[in-house]
Amino acid sequence: MASFKNTISTLVQLSRNASSCLLSRSRTHIFYISLLLLSVFFVSTSLTERSPTALASAMAARLRLAANYFSSFSSVSSSNTCLVSDLRSNCTLSSVTTVERTPGNSVKDGRYVIKDLGSCDIFNGNWVLDDSDPVYLPGSCPYIDDSFNCYKNGRVDFSYVRYRWKPFDCQIPRFDGRKMLKMLRGKRLVFVGDSLNRNMWESLVCALRESSKDKRRIIEVFRTQGLYSFRFKDYKCSIDFFKSPFLVQEWKISDKIGTRRETLRLDMIQGSKYSDADIIVFNTGHWWTHQKTNKGKNYFQEDSHVYNRLEVKEAFAKALRTWAKWVDANIDRNRTRVFFGGYSASHFRKGQWDAGGHCDGETEPIANEASLAPYPWMMNILESVIAGMKTPVFYLNITKMTAYRKDGHPSVYRTAEIPRNPSMFQDCSHWCLPGVPDSWNELLYATLLISGH
Ligand SMILES: *[C@@H]1O[C@H](CO)[C@@H](O)[C@H](O)[C@H]1NC(C)=O
Ligand SMILES: *[C@@H]1O[C@H](CO)[C@@H](O)[C@H](O)[C@H]1NC(C)=O
Ligand SMILES: *[C@@H]1O[C@H](CO)[C@@H](O)[C@H](O)[C@H]1NC(C)=O
Repeated sequence: MASFKNTISTLVQLSRNASSCLLSRSRTHIFYISLLLLSVFFVSTSLTERSPTALASAMAARLRLAANYFSSFSSVSSSNTCLVSDLRSNCTLSSVTTVERTPGNSVKDGRYVIKDLGSCDIFNGNWVLDDSDPVYLPGSCPYIDDSFNCYKNGRVDFSYVRYRWKPFDCQIPRFDGRKMLKMLRGKRLVFVGDSLNRNMWESLVCALRESSKDKRRIIEVFRTQGLYSFRFKDYKCSIDFFKSPFLVQEWKISDKIGTRRETLRLDMIQGSKYSDADIIVFNTGHWWTHQKTNKGKNYFQEDSHVYNRLEVKEAFAKALRTWAKWVDANIDRNRTRVFFGGYSASHFRKGQWDAGGHCDGETEPIANEASLAPYPWMMNILESVIAGMKTPVFYLNITKMTAYRKDGHPSVYRTAEIPRNPSMFQDCSHWCLPGVPDSWNELLYATLLISGH
């Protein structure tokens, strides 16, 4: 253990020495972003997907999403504290809320808001080694599924819990479970989506548990096939997970000869027992890459029509539009904050999960930003769907931050199975807990803080 600490502190030292260069890099970054922003303003306020460069259109999408989201918080009560600080103007995001509260926002103010938000993309950054303990210690939380519990399953290298996400252009506040619980008092937070969202849900429950004085006052209310719920009695708040891997409804039909066949209803949202929640975090993505989905043969259905063949991209877009329509029609925008979790990267080497793909033995994130996997097509579709919605949706753009973390997956530690056979199925999609999803929750926390929830 002592040598582990030593290694960590050497590495921390190294990263500190590198930080002056990081700073100048951030400055350059801000400079480019400002240039881009200027061009975005001059081109037009409504850039379309046909804008000159992909970069400019991505920027525009981001600005639109962020601006949409924050403009809905004009009623923030008070916030003099610097929540997210910027390298230039110590207090960007809290100054945004100040501007928002100024009556009769002039055009100038509006630009100011967008410009300052644009100067910090909290999802663009890198991972730095950090001396402090994770929000909860490995092995300390009883709610972690065995399949995410790498510590329990025998993983002995721990640097994967020592990295902290650091945006290039600003600092984010550390996760404070006590504050988060206060914000959530009397509220219901629901995660809706696939097992990556379940990963995030468990991380949050564990992080909040760690800050609870009396842990006996946390009760597991449901653990059924589709709905999981923890209640923090001292705060009268629930943190739920609703399983819905496609967001739209999995379905069964009988064909002409009476055989039951599975289909996916692109025109029907799955369940909706969460529309009254105060905060909802949706996600979907990984299931659209699976065989059956990807082939798209006699699988996608709308109304009574089953498509012989439908491109998965088209199906995905249809499903998201169904979701968006449902959210716009059923979510009370004055009450509920809506988040959408982006695509979390996988790191299978030499084959997919069922074909000998593996990621064991990785102990460090990818160092070179240039070798990160490209941004998935699904997220481009998601961005354009969100941009067309009435409901402000905050997009948790976690693709890049996860793409670095080839070291954070359960790999062979997905079960306690011994001996560890290198040819066993490895999990290079989900994340060990504690681990990467704790940082997603840190960003969720920062965003909620800013929104004065
Ligand atoms: C999300 O992050 C990716 C980089 O991983 C970037 O290309 C994309 O433009 C970002 N999207 C938004 C809306 O910020
Ligand atoms: C930021 O904070 C530092 C130290 O508190 C101060 O000297 C500086 O003037 C501040 N900058 C701005 C733009 O407020
Ligand atoms: C939301 O709040 C606004 C302003 O307070 C109000 O005009 C509007 O009717 C509310 N909408 C709903 C659906 O309650």
